Amino acid sequence: AASLPPTYTIRALRKSDYSIGFLDVLRVLTTVGDITEEEWNGRYEWMTTQGKGGYYLLVVEDQGRIVATGALLVERKFIHHLGLVGHIEDIAVAKDQQGKKLGLKLIQALDFIAENVGCYKCILDCSEANEGFYVKCGYKRAGLEMAHYY
Ligand code: ACO
Repeated sequence: AASLPPTYTIRALRKSDYSIGFLDVLRVLTTVGDITEEEWNGRYEWMTTQGKGGYYLLVVEDQGRIVATGALLVERKFIHHLGLVGHIEDIAVAKDQQGKKLGLKLIQALDFIAENVGCYKCILDCSEANEGFYVKCGYKRAGLEMAHYY
């Protein structure tokens, strides 16, 4: 697989990413709201036991700024002899950084983690408009999403 452009690095989310644009990147995806640093710290600590909690949060940093992010949530099941299923969530690339293969690299990195922790598959939900991107990442259409909003 091709590498990232020279000044870009892909790494695990850090608590300090609050200050260098992590939440702004998520805003390309949907509404985020005003999250205080205290609220951020609480959620970060809950999620980022890197492994134990089943959350793997990755970011792409370019020269001190977060430009892309993606998450993997590993679900533990009884079926398939205690099988593990990966859920890819919240893939977002800053508007001015789209089309540089950052999304593709994030999905490849999350797939690598999923396979290595023992997931037998990874699944995700996306809009029709994003289907082509995920097909390029090796995913194929499977099933139908249902939602019940509260
Ligand atoms: N439809 C079809 N093909 C696409 C699309 C698309 N919407 N977006 C990218 N591609 C293609 C690219 O042309 C490229 O093809 P190539 O290898 O032939 O050149 C390949 O997919 C890889 O593209 P990247 O450059 O890695 O894409 P990018 O870094 O821009 O990331 C993403 C794509 C994540 C959809 C980005 O545009 C984005 O953040 N969009 C807004 C937020 C969003 O919709 N996120 C996904 C939500 S679904 C979820 O989170 C599970």
